Amino acid sequence: MTKIISPSILAADFGNLQAACEMINGSEAQWLHIDIMDGSFVPNISFGFPVLEAVKKHSTKPLDVHLMIVNPEKYISRFAKAGADILTFHYETVENPLSVIELIRAEGIKVGITINPDVPVSVLEPFVDKVDLVLLMTVFAGYGGQKFMDNSYDRIAELKEIIERKKAHCLIEVDGGVNEDNASILFESGVNVLVAGSAVFGAPDPLKTIHNMLNT
Ligand code: DX5
Ligand code: ZN
Repeated sequence: MTKIISPSILAADFGNLQAACEMINGSEAQWLHIDIMDGSFVPNISFGFPVLEAVKKHSTKPLDVHLMIVNPEKYISRFAKAGADILTFHYETVENPLSVIELIRAEGIKVGITINPDVPVSVLEPFVDKVDLVLLMTVFAGYGGQKFMDNSYDRIAELKEIIERKKAHCLIEVDGGVNEDNASILFESGVNVLVAGSAVFGAPDPLKTIHNMLNT
């Protein structure tokens, strides 16, 4: 089974992004997660294109870009050009998810769809065979450092059942409150990609934390 760690740069020291990228380059993490927040879909504002471009310049890992913005369809081309390798949008932010999926595919990059914890998993059914990745938020999008929501395990099982029934091949990613304690149970539950911000960048030895998340 595919097991990927995608550390979230949101928890890094923005005064030294190059060092953060280089640390991840030298780690066992396979992707780098980039949180784009607009102060509208979510209450918080993170950063935009210039920061993504700077990270792209220093990172050797595929950039896993998580859009928490209204009207994502307006910016797909710019995010692709700024360096996104995987572009994930929120189902809640678009009227026609299929057309957004096609717009992202047309950029020649991978596409993901995501929902907040209060959106029924069943809304994803029409899309699991059309995307590369489904991201289940395990906290409400907007801030790093929140507590993992325990009802997420039922949601993961429900998503797995839908993916298997539709014989789809998308990866399952979870984001929010992931750490060394819940990583192994999440992988055992069928999750393929773990996003971890504070657990990695706040750790005394991030390389060891990433290693442990992949191997315990
Ligand atoms: C939350 C973001 C997450 C966040 C994760 O809105 O989408 O990616 O950075 O942070 P932790 O791992 O600290 O919960
Ligand atoms: Zn995220």
